[in-house]
Amino acid sequence: MKIFLDTANLEEIRKGVDWGVVDGVTTNPTLIAKERRPFEEQIRQICEIVHGDISAEVVSTEAGQMIDEGRKLSRIHPNVVVKCPLTRDGLKATAALTREGVRVNVTLCFSPAQALLAAKAGAYIVSPFVGRLDDIGHTGMDLVADIVEIYRNYGFRTQVLAASIRSPLHVVEAARAGAHIATMPFAVLDKLFDHPLTDKGLAQFLKDYKKAFQETPVSG
Ligand code: G3P
Repeated sequence: MKIFLDTANLEEIRKGVDWGVVDGVTTNPTLIAKERRPFEEQIRQICEIVHGDISAEVVSTEAGQMIDEGRKLSRIHPNVVVKCPLTRDGLKATAALTREGVRVNVTLCFSPAQALLAAKAGAYIVSPFVGRLDDIGHTGMDLVADIVEIYRNYGFRTQVLAASIRSPLHVVEAARAGAHIATMPFAVLDKLFDHPLTDKGLAQFLKDYKKAFQETPVSG
């Protein structure tokens, strides 16, 4: 499973990339707005830091305008994947952009039926929102598992990207469900490293080593 960072913050992206575990980045209008910097410039800079898929979302809602916006976004950098919402116009734009060779991440997916349509429209990626379904009392991860099953049944090549991830458990569940990608906030990625037994084990190793070789040097 690929790991993407769900952020437009350059510092967070640099840290994740330095750890050697980040395969790509997803942004959305909310995340981009938080950085308070020119949109295209921010996307370009992200593309320079991460050598993988970088999702940039359209903000138009009408198909023709989404197509124009998508073309413009795709010209920022070859790694840009255009994000279109899962609406009728969004899928119309997805099909048109896909025919032109632009890769599209269909976002705001909340049902298996929607995901089926996204694949039919030729989406490169579909993004089911796990946390936001959990928020309204549904088990969001069931949607990821359902989509993976449906796509496997028919050999769809659309990748399933588990989005709206809120915890390390979500990441593990996404991997178990067979998601191709999980995108997560930096704080969640950071937490994936931690285990108390790792800390305890390392402290013991260092203590034993110090005792043997530094406090009482080995003779001969
Ligand atoms: O990028 C889309 C998605 O991951 C947003 O997550 O936490 O705002 O529901 P969240």
